Amino acid sequence: MMNYKEMIAQIIEPAVGGGSAFDIPGLIEIPAESKMGDYALPCFRLAKQMRKAPHLIAKEITEKIENEAIFMKVESVNGYVNMFIDREHFMRNLLTEAILKGEKFGRSDLGKGKKVIVEYSAPNIAKPFHIGHIRSTVIGNSIYKIYDFMGYDTVRINHLGDYGTQFGKIICAYRRWGNKEDVEKEPIKTLLSYYVKFHEEAENDPSLEDEARATFTRLEHGEPSEMELWQWFRDESLREFKKVYDMLSIEFDSYAGESFYSDKMPAALEIMKEKGILVPSMGAQIVDLEEYGMPPALITKQDGSTLYITRDIAAGIYRKQHYDFYKNLYIVGSQQILHFQQWIKIIELMGFDWSKDCVHIPFGMVSLEDGTVSTRQGRVVLLEDVLNKAVEKTKELIIEKGIVTDNIDETAKQVGIGAVIFHELQNSRIKDYIFSWDKVLNFNGETGPYVQYTHARIASVMRNSGDAPENYLDIDKCGISYITGESAFELAKLLYKFGTVVNEAAEKYEPSIATRHIVDIAQAFNRFYHDEYILVDNEEERAAKLTLAYAAKIAIKNGLWLLGMEAPEKM
Ligand code: ARG
Repeated sequence: MMNYKEMIAQIIEPAVGGGSAFDIPGLIEIPAESKMGDYALPCFRLAKQMRKAPHLIAKEITEKIENEAIFMKVESVNGYVNMFIDREHFMRNLLTEAILKGEKFGRSDLGKGKKVIVEYSAPNIAKPFHIGHIRSTVIGNSIYKIYDFMGYDTVRINHLGDYGTQFGKIICAYRRWGNKEDVEKEPIKTLLSYYVKFHEEAENDPSLEDEARATFTRLEHGEPSEMELWQWFRDESLREFKKVYDMLSIEFDSYAGESFYSDKMPAALEIMKEKGILVPSMGAQIVDLEEYGMPPALITKQDGSTLYITRDIAAGIYRKQHYDFYKNLYIVGSQQILHFQQWIKIIELMGFDWSKDCVHIPFGMVSLEDGTVSTRQGRVVLLEDVLNKAVEKTKELIIEKGIVTDNIDETAKQVGIGAVIFHELQNSRIKDYIFSWDKVLNFNGETGPYVQYTHARIASVMRNSGDAPENYLDIDKCGISYITGESAFELAKLLYKFGTVVNEAAEKYEPSIATRHIVDIAQAFNRFYHDEYILVDNEEERAAKLTLAYAAKIAIKNGLWLLGMEAPEKM
């Protein structure tokens, strides 16, 4: 698509003169209010070098450029050159792009040949997949999609919590009190109950702890009977996690979790020793980070066992060797900010310059309307239940509102699950937020159902036109002069920005930037729909309006895809 900022800069540069002393593209602004123009050049920074007052410079530039075809009008106001784009020029450019790119509208190949690892979700085996986990899962999935949309070569990793001393405890508990059928029926609930029972019993019988430790050591050494149980717990847990991933249409390229690195830690420890950063401390080994304002990182315990961070160190090295990433992204809650700061520092101290390519992308906490999510008090809200409830409630709403669909269950699923995802991605990720059913399932506010409904509305207009898209998606058949009204132009400007907004969301690792823009597009379309009658008799006018609607539909559909949501054709 033509880049208006660049084109304008090329027009302005000769008018400013003085060679390339100024970064004109960098100076051009998009005014907050459209009555100040679509683009503006503030002349204050030019004043010193040009030895002239800003308002005089603005006036001069205005006179030199006002007759250019791409402008409808140019005004000089208080030291600014305010430029109004010729709407027909702009619309023709945008619609041509939409017709040309079709379903790929907004996509780019900026990231071609660059590998980006997106690590997200990472629940813990034998522990519930609760509503707190939704954040990493949904935010990570969206970040992966944003990078994919920009042409990066992405790798989705689920770094499962499938290693650690707790497995010694669960194995012990299972051997004492366990039952195979129960585990098969409800794996996570059952395994969790063993874990809880273990702790209760261990209060009175401390020898249980020793037994668990010994069991874990046998597991670490690959003892077959221990390995078999562990593998079974892992498989059963994963089967339950996958139910949730299926509901969310989320996939991974790798499930290499913590256990995958158990045989890769000795080599990592070796490097730390060579670099002289691993120091003994009361029988344990640590990396002292005081110099960097951080507490020491415990790398091996007194008994020689490794820790969470040790596995992350081995994982980082493995990922660099195996994938040679351009970026390695970790979508993990803000409670782990210190962990990742320590980890990145250690990678750097080990002499790996790719530490700068590793990014921890934290997010705030989610709580329920009646208080915080808590595993300890047993008030766990399972993600699966939340999704099922969203679908159920949506179905009730569809019936209540008399919304016509081809397949009510399918629509309820698309909208209900979409609503939860959207709610999650609406606010800046770092903010804590309260999960509220009223907000999730509101069809009128700035919500998932509202955006999906707008998509379905456009689909319905296109169906009602009685015309096949190939009949009107042709720039020569579009009467561009019919779509230069205010609401058409505002919609077009948002569509034009779509690709740039996705780039910004990628740079800031912030899906909410995309979410907000998609809501803006949906609202702009609805204003256009309210102001203008699309299916008019005049063929050129109808073709132009339908093509603009089509462009909005594709942008919304791609936008919803970026969030991990479906775009229903009917609702
Ligand atoms: N399993 C961990 C948890 O639930 C998250 C893992 C995050 N990823 C990592 N590479 N440390 O807290």
